[in-house]
Order: sequence, then structure tokens, then C-alpha cells
Amino acid sequence: VRTRVAIVGAGPAGLLLSHLLAQSGIDSIVVDQRTREQIESTIRAGILEQGTVELLDTLGDFSRARTVGTRHNGIELRFAGHGHRIDFPGLVGRSVWLYPQHEALKDLIAARLAGGQDLRFGVTVERVEDNDIPRVIAKEADGQELIIEADFIVGADGSRSVVRPAVTGTSQGGYFREYPFAWFGILTEAPASAEELIYSNSPDGFALISQRSPTVQRMYFQCDPDADPNALSEEEIWGMLQARVPGTTLTEGPIFQRDVLRFRSFVAHELRKGRIAIVGDAAHTVPPTGAKGMNLAVADVVLLNRALQALLLENDERLIDGFADAALHRIWKAQHFSWWMTSMLHSTPEATEFDHRRQLGELRSVVESEAGSTFLAEAYTGWPLPAA
Ligand code: DHB
Repeated sequence: VRTRVAIVGAGPAGLLLSHLLAQSGIDSIVVDQRTREQIESTIRAGILEQGTVELLDTLGDFSRARTVGTRHNGIELRFAGHGHRIDFPGLVGRSVWLYPQHEALKDLIAARLAGGQDLRFGVTVERVEDNDIPRVIAKEADGQELIIEADFIVGADGSRSVVRPAVTGTSQGGYFREYPFAWFGILTEAPASAEELIYSNSPDGFALISQRSPTVQRMYFQCDPDADPNALSEEEIWGMLQARVPGTTLTEGPIFQRDVLRFRSFVAHELRKGRIAIVGDAAHTVPPTGAKGMNLAVADVVLLNRALQALLLENDERLIDGFADAALHRIWKAQHFSWWMTSMLHSTPEATEFDHRRQLGELRSVVESEAGSTFLAEAYTGWPLPAA
């Protein structure tokens, strides 16, 4: 088959890109290895920047971000037994929305299918080529060979991207940082423990009290990267969580999902080579503290959409030539913010008493200074996006 843009990966980046391209009349095919059910039920991120919500607004009634999602006007930073609120609208005139990624994916998939999008699930991509014509070589769910010929190929296929090697030359090819801890995440059936998210630094380590809906809550606590999610009883898990938010009491409920999220920082050395580009987790990974991952993927896509419009509609290569540098500008700011939030809130195995006290000094510098709080609020709610 032939299309203008072949998009590998039906996550937030791939689906949003196909939507934005379609708005300027550029057709695309989106393929994903997973089934629609898997994509629509995998629990991932929860926080959308205001700019991300505004882009989803262009789906019209398909976006439920403002109706099913909830606006959050702040977060609590908790340390030394006290909570300190960061007031987003008061500081930067912007907010974030709590709207689970898989709900946003349901909206995007429904909107794309209603718009006649060629969206294929269960497709395994073997490789991509950029010889005479850019080609995606894949197998359909039923085992049939699928070859997509396109003017441009986009890898939006996540951290284990099969497109990335065609851009970076190796499957790794990037700047890395590992962390000596992970997050133990749970879903619990309980009412919210607090109105807003709580990011807590405690002598026992980090905890994040997040939400999914009025009846389901998402919570995380710092753990060893090799921890076995099934080794703890529910009582032990609640003990770990309660100990990490001193001064507040969590509302407990049955725990119906648990997982260990290992995390790292990564930025690919190259984001584009010829007529192939990578976006989202295929191009970079941030640690989850600060909720930048999905939002950063969206920002990549806004830039790539504009570059592809110029390239495919006006034969103007300037924006695609500048795509990587433009995207990296925001990517490295988000890398810094995610690393900073992580380092300020977690305990490392080798941390000394000096390090703990320095962290408390850092947190006080943030909450007691309007400049400090504003820096956090700007980054958390998202730096302005270029016009789509
Ligand atoms: C969630 C995850 C994050 O990393 C974060 O910073 C905030 C919320 C969540 O899964 O709800």
C-alpha cells in the first residue's frame, strides 16, 4: 500500500500526528503491534498539560478530557511532615488535567476511525528502509506481508522502537542515565485521599499520591529496581505508603493492580535521518516524576506536523532540517525538570545526612520563593507549544 506518511505506533504520539496531518489533508497509515484492547486498557500516565488538552480539543466531541478528566490547579509538595501547595493558576495562569492516557487513547482511536483513518492493529514491523522510496516492511495480524510505501516514515513506537535503529544506526544510540531506584505502583479502589496530587519526600523515601477517577486511586512509592511486586501483602504496601506521607492519612481500599516501574533518562543521538523521524518514547525517556513523558511526545508531534506540512505540501525542507534541534530544545528542558524533581524527592542508597538536609533546603527554596515555585509551575503545566 501507499500513503504519504507511514506512522509506526498507535500511542498518543502516532495517533495525534495522524489527526493533525489529516487536518491539513495529508493522509497516513498508522500501524501498531498491539491489539486495540491492549492499547485501550494499559494503565500509563495520568497528567495532561494544558497545551495537550487544548490539542485534544481539536478532536471535537471525541475528546472527553474536560468532561471525564479533572482540572488540577495545583500539587502538594510534602516534606518534613508538612504539605506545601504549588498554586498553578496563581503563579502561571495555567493548569493541568488528570485524564488517564488510555482514556485519551480511546478518544483518539474513536476519532481517527470515524475520520476514515487506515489504522491497523496486530501489525509487526520487521524493518524500515529509506532507499529509493521509504518503506515499512511488516506482517499483518494474519501473517500476510505488508509493505507500506510512503513519502515519510515516523517511529512513534515507544522505548523499544524498531524504527529507531534506522535513525540512530544502533538500537541504543543515545545519552543515558540510570537511577538506583524504581516505583512500586498500585491501583486501589478507594476515594481520593486528597484533592490534589501529593509528591512527598520522607526519611523513608519518595511517594506520589495520584488519582485515576473518583473511585480509583493511583499511588507509588520508591522501591528497589529488583523488587518483586508480589512479595508484599496489601497491609505491607499500605504501611510503606502511609510511612512515606507523614502528617497525612491515606484512605485505604482493596489493591487490584501492582507493578514495578524501572526508570531511566534517555535521549537518542539522532531524531531524524533522511525521510525517517522518531518521536515520543522512541526518541527519549524521562523518569516519571513530574509527568512529562506523554506531554513531551505531544510536543514532538506538534513540531513534526508543521515540518511535514511544509515538506509534503510546499516541498520546503527547512523545518524538517531543523526538526531535531527544535524538538531537542524542549526535550532537554524536560529531561532536566524530570531529573530535578526525581533528585529532589527520592533517597538514593548512598545518600548521606548532608544530602538529606540539602534536599530539604532545596525544597524550602522552592516553596518559600515565588520564583522557585513559578519555575516548578511553568515546567509542570508545560512550556508554551508552538502553534499546531
Ligand atoms: C502520575 C504519574 C506521574 O509520574 C506523575 O508525576 C503524576 C501522576 C500518575 O500516574 O497518575
